[in-house]
Amino acid sequence: MSDENNIYGSNESEDTLTNRQGHPVTNNQNVRTVGNRGPTTLENYDFLEKISHFDRERIPERVVHARGAGAHGYFEAYGTVGDEPISKYTRAKLFQEKGKQTPVFVRFSSVVHGGHSPETLRDPRGFAVKFYTEDGNWDLVGNNLKIFFIRDPLKFPDLVHAFKPDPVTNIQDGERIFDFVSNSPEATHMVTFLFSPWGIPANYRMMQGSGVNTYKWVNKEGTGFLVKYHWEPKQGIRNLTQEEADELQGKNFNHATQDLYEAIEKGDYPEWELYVQILSDDDHPELDYDPLDPTKLWYKDDVPWQKVGKMVLNKNPENYFAEVEQAAFGTGVLVDGLDFSDDKLLQGRTFSYSDTQRYRVGSNYLQLPINSPKKHVATNQQGGQMEYKVDIGKNQNPHVNYEPSTLGGLKEAENPGKEHTPYVEGELKRETIDRTNNFGQAGETYRRFSDFERDELIKNLVNTLAPCDKRIQEQMIENFTKADPEYGQRVKDGLAAKAKEMESGAPMGATQAEEAVQQAQDVSH
Ligand code: HEM
Repeated sequence: MSDENNIYGSNESEDTLTNRQGHPVTNNQNVRTVGNRGPTTLENYDFLEKISHFDRERIPERVVHARGAGAHGYFEAYGTVGDEPISKYTRAKLFQEKGKQTPVFVRFSSVVHGGHSPETLRDPRGFAVKFYTEDGNWDLVGNNLKIFFIRDPLKFPDLVHAFKPDPVTNIQDGERIFDFVSNSPEATHMVTFLFSPWGIPANYRMMQGSGVNTYKWVNKEGTGFLVKYHWEPKQGIRNLTQEEADELQGKNFNHATQDLYEAIEKGDYPEWELYVQILSDDDHPELDYDPLDPTKLWYKDDVPWQKVGKMVLNKNPENYFAEVEQAAFGTGVLVDGLDFSDDKLLQGRTFSYSDTQRYRVGSNYLQLPINSPKKHVATNQQGGQMEYKVDIGKNQNPHVNYEPSTLGGLKEAENPGKEHTPYVEGELKRETIDRTNNFGQAGETYRRFSDFERDELIKNLVNTLAPCDKRIQEQMIENFTKADPEYGQRVKDGLAAKAKEMESGAPMGATQAEEAVQQAQDVSH
């Protein structure tokens, strides 16, 4: 080795390849060996560092929502709810002033399958937004559909196991899905959306988003309001039929990621308007459902949608892993003026997200640039794997990592408004809510669909239910019949026809896809 090429020398430019210790790498083609035929030697640090870092490139993927795409942008507030100043309902700073912009990062996703699974699958889509507000981060972790399968968080691991591939064959199985769903009548409404064309959005830009769960807003006086959030795409809404999705999948199974990335690269920035529905903070006996039940829609006729701002996505991530894979969203991440409701599913979720992220990303996941607030962070929490900076206050005595103190530690903040202190009383028990009404809205959704949507729904259900155990088919027919007698009858007739077809060995009748891509009219109001 000549002096010129000495790896500890300074003959480097900014583009010189180095290892992670900053040592310039002079030979990236050959490991060091005894003679050019080996054996290799173990003191070859460059090689050991390179290969052992490679061995650790993967972190556990998300247990759900593993496949996703992300983008940066901003949220712009309108300052009002209808004709009223928004301050009447919430004191959250990001909403108050017309035109006020807050940076955001959004991650869209599918739910069931792994990190490189096709983006054409019938599956809910995730729609998670991180707002980097002046009061710290707010995450609105939603889906494209406005309701969910279950209302009790205790059932979530079972729901996911039923939808994920079979633990023996590693293949997703409609029988396992409908085994769970037929025994969980509250899922009938969600399944009605999922097996209609609404179960396969055409891409991420042309789908709605919804917070699904009921949250609260809190004003200066400490008064709470129940609130639901909805994102409406300015690009319009498009869904795919099963046939369209099957055809697309053979050509491009990354189409949704590609569509989002390319639109932003060419300056065609996607936009969504944020709407809220607001109800007073009580149990609303006038409704035939509980406003805290995430299997239910709040119909627009009962609770109007009101615009509160818009979101523009205008910058692609510079690195997928650092920004999209390591992004960590959670329903517990709220700012002053936003609060939880007693929605049980929401409360279960709130434990689950940060718990999984401490495992998936690491205990210091909030220090990563994508997750860190864009404001001062000062905390006495310390240590843990991969801590790389100390988040102490500017004037903090660095010896004082506890509170309270007279020696110069951190001080509590002043309360920005009157605390919201709802009164809670009751027996501790394990019981479902009173107004379950598991089938009413499922029937209403079926009736509100267009003829085309109903036809697609029946066809998709029949195709998936046909190979299932007869007992599961019968339970599903009973549940659909309770939703709407015609709905149940059509599934029953479809299954009988399918059974005949299968017996006679005749080809399964492929129905024609109507248009190349379906423009959708939102019926969920
Ligand atoms: C991701 C749990 C219900 C939307 C996740 C993750 C977990 C989880 C553990 C992985 C998070 C990560 O690794 O960073 C739960 C539980 C639920 C529930 C326990 C119910 C009890 C829901 C509902 C929605 C939803 C109702 C829709 C409103 C999402 C989204 C993501 C996600 C969008 C992906 C976030 C991202 O892009 O990183 N969920 N979830 N989940 N969940 Fe849920």
